[in-house]
Amino acid sequence: MDYLQIEGPTKLNGSVEIAGAKNASLPLIAMTLLADNKVCINNIPNVVDIKTLVKLLGNLGATVNIDQSSVQIDTRSLSNTKATYDIVKTMRASILVLGPLLARFGHCEVSLPGGCAIGQRPIDLHLKALEQMGAEITIEAGYVLAKAKDGLKGAHIVFDKITVTGTANIVMAAALAKGKTIITNAALEPEVVQLCEVLKNSGVSIDGIGSSELTIYGTDRRLVHIDPFDVIPDRIEAGTYLCAAAITNSEVTITNVCADHLESIISKLEQMGFSFDITSDTITIKPAKSIKSVDIVTQEYPGFPTDMQAQFLTLCTQAKGVSIIEERLFENRFMHVSELQRLGADIKLKGNSATVVGKIDLVGADVMATDLRASSALVLAALAAKGTTNVHRIYHLDRGYVELEKKLQKLGAKIKRLKEQA
Ligand code: EPZ
Repeated sequence: MDYLQIEGPTKLNGSVEIAGAKNASLPLIAMTLLADNKVCINNIPNVVDIKTLVKLLGNLGATVNIDQSSVQIDTRSLSNTKATYDIVKTMRASILVLGPLLARFGHCEVSLPGGCAIGQRPIDLHLKALEQMGAEITIEAGYVLAKAKDGLKGAHIVFDKITVTGTANIVMAAALAKGKTIITNAALEPEVVQLCEVLKNSGVSIDGIGSSELTIYGTDRRLVHIDPFDVIPDRIEAGTYLCAAAITNSEVTITNVCADHLESIISKLEQMGFSFDITSDTITIKPAKSIKSVDIVTQEYPGFPTDMQAQFLTLCTQAKGVSIIEERLFENRFMHVSELQRLGADIKLKGNSATVVGKIDLVGADVMATDLRASSALVLAALAAKGTTNVHRIYHLDRGYVELEKKLQKLGAKIKRLKEQA
């Protein structure tokens, strides 16, 4: 197992290129189950979660070729519709095969994802919506058994709560269903928008893309032809590098990024005193005279993303004043707090809210990563902390960040990946 050793405090400079979005790539890879051709997806991030989903499709019988940043997937010869626990337990987003498999084959078995470090994360909204589309769903021995022998039929789905992968699952199911499906309270995330746009370009009639009400006219199980396309840039990776620059108060340019997707992130950084030069595909962050505290409430897109909460909470330890961070999406997403306290941070937790007192001089120590975004926050803290910080269990990081330490090295950070002593 690897860990990261980081010397701080450090200044960063230069530019860093952003990879394709993990959370767009996952539903787009599952979407290939709806294709009548070999699909080529470009600008795919080279991260563990992508490899896991590609492996799952391979286990179902698809032919897959993956290289540094693109994947070719041919699901025409699929022979198996069971997504097994050994894979699904490692990545809950595997649930994204449920909608397309059921819509195409009329039956499938998908392991329940089980618990997650950041919260319970049930899939009840996915299952309820598929039942409304005519599926028979039972849970047996930890598996979702879904049947719709005559295919799924269009329905009016009203989500009680906004769910990103839930919306994606139902959009894919509705694409091959019989008749019209309306999804009310659909997720607005750019990752969901790209899925809808690619399906629309592939001949599925979809209205309301980018709004909270989607209308999908199904093909009644006719598979669609999907032309090659590029995945959108990863707005969370981009936000993480902006926070790396901010916490070291450095000037950094991020490239291959879509600034529109980062509005809430940039607006919070501006409130903290940072300024920006923005072009069509680059963002340059400029140092603040003094970093100001800020209050944050996580919300669904276009609100402030929960996937940036840990990174900003860490940044607030270096801001003058008191910041209040409220986490509204996941009930257990403050695991990074106790690790930041090991570095000397002054943070008090109460319910789903963290009070961060700044500015505090952090001091290097050994810390443990607990989930994907928490691990990136610990790396940010280490860039600002005095002395050596070792971040352990970085397999969490590798799930969603492409070569983070190499990219930070290129920006001047003193960071290296080492092997844990046996
Ligand atoms: C997606 O997860 C992202 N993952 C998450 O990113 C992200 O944190 C989350 O959306 C919110 O933005 C991927 O896209 C692969 P939700 P998802 O369904 O779809 C509750 C990362 O760091 N809910 O929108 O699983 C749920 O418990 C990851 O890259 C139900 O109650 O999240 C949560 O409180 C972490 N029942 C809320 O809704 C359901 O059936 C939002 O969850 C579904 C969800």
